[in-house]
Amino acid sequence: MGFYHVKHGHRIGGDAERIKAGIGRFAEKENRRRPGKQALTLTGIRLKEPAMQATSESAPPGAPRGQWGSRIGFILAASGSAVGLGNIWRFPYLTGENGGAAFVVVYLCCVVLLGLPLLFNELALGRRSGQDVIGAFRATRPGTAFVVTGWLCLACCFFVLSYYSVIASWTVGYTVASLLHVKLVFEHFAANPWFVLPLFAFFMALTVLIVEGGVERGIERWSKILMPVLILLCGVVILRSVTLPGAAAGIKYYLHPDFSKITGDVVMKAMGQAFFSLSVGWGLMITYGSYMAKRQDIVSSGAWVAGVDTLVAIMGGFMVFPAVFAFGLTPDAGTALTFKTLPAVFERMPAGMVVGAAFFFLLGIAALTSTISMLEVPVAWLVDEKKWPRRRAAWVVGTLAFVAGIPSALSVGGTAWLSQLSFAGKTGFLDIIDQIFGTTIILLICLLSSIYVGWIWGPQPAVEEIAASSAWFTRPLLGKLTPATLWKFFIRYLCPGIVFAMLLNMLGIKLF
Ligand code: PFF
Repeated sequence: MGFYHVKHGHRIGGDAERIKAGIGRFAEKENRRRPGKQALTLTGIRLKEPAMQATSESAPPGAPRGQWGSRIGFILAASGSAVGLGNIWRFPYLTGENGGAAFVVVYLCCVVLLGLPLLFNELALGRRSGQDVIGAFRATRPGTAFVVTGWLCLACCFFVLSYYSVIASWTVGYTVASLLHVKLVFEHFAANPWFVLPLFAFFMALTVLIVEGGVERGIERWSKILMPVLILLCGVVILRSVTLPGAAAGIKYYLHPDFSKITGDVVMKAMGQAFFSLSVGWGLMITYGSYMAKRQDIVSSGAWVAGVDTLVAIMGGFMVFPAVFAFGLTPDAGTALTFKTLPAVFERMPAGMVVGAAFFFLLGIAALTSTISMLEVPVAWLVDEKKWPRRRAAWVVGTLAFVAGIPSALSVGGTAWLSQLSFAGKTGFLDIIDQIFGTTIILLICLLSSIYVGWIWGPQPAVEEIAASSAWFTRPLLGKLTPATLWKFFIRYLCPGIVFAMLLNMLGIKLF
């Protein structure tokens, strides 16, 4: 039972020492006497604070809740969630479509002014409650209608997982094809259910296998392996890309902003991308925050996550633009940039097949660390609230997400009516579901959660939660101005105001 104290004692905050000294000895004896029943003693201790209601990883109900084994483990797992197709596929093509460097500047402002405050918001809510996305709202302010935000988070993670894994599975096909020196024609490949469905099933199964391993032994362990591999491969591909003859034009395009290109629409897309990329507005950071130890610094860990995510997005641009310009192609091919333009680039460059395989493999890894986190949100809810064993929760949600993803998999040419379906200006089932869950509902969640923390729960408990591990958060910066005051302003006024304006914009009421 010493295990419990080392791994979980700090969840109990100020009580930890007393518990270690007193109840700890009792717990040890008790658990030796009744192996497998640790929960009995722990639950008794935990009842004092809702955040400490114990739940299980893959253990029986009442056993200790999962927790990150280390700070670096959390940073890698959360940045693994943040770094995904959004950085290497979506960010470069949005940059290409929206004016290059000017888009990058607006994007960086959005990350700092909106993304970071919302990230701290979710982490504080998660750690304070120590619960899943639904439980977090119920535990912090019982009885409000804002619990609907938690349900929206569950829906978003589930539906985005369903189509995101389809795109992720294409990367497996492209990696294998590059290794075998086979040229894939995107339209034929994506439209062929005999390729796409088995790859999709494989990718989903991989995700489930990692999530069923639990927080520390599954997600954290694999993130620690996959993230360094990803950064290394990014470095290799960038090196190849920037050393191609003619690459300078791409670097210039990427680094020299033309501010006349910034329009209301560009700002909106940059904001949407910042939320997508940082994984805020999905309840993911609430769930991952709930596995954080009390002593772990929310501000610096959150800043690390945002920093790694932004770095990889910027690296994504350095992989793509120099190579695209070097071969005289255009960077505005939209979603096709990664799966059509880049293979054409790899085909023409020396050692292109190896670089291509490395690129698609790293894209697959980035996607995997993201799908893991999307699956974790509903799994945590089933484990926490419905007391399901983790393994069952992971396989059931994974199977349902696979079934829900079949229409997306068949909507890129596979089946005519699914491919031609149109709604809200989008064509094809996959794009429609992305617009609904991956864009609009995310904004709604960001709006509701900032109103919830800023006005309903009140920002003070969140400030206390953040300051518990970052004392400087409440210390004056300038006169009476503290980082906490600034954060409160952002979360109460700036974030909800801007996100509300974006939602109106999306509904056709153009404010800018
Ligand atoms: N941030 C991921 C990306 O950029 O691809 C997408 C994502 C992953 C969003 C996990 C939400 C989430 F829970």
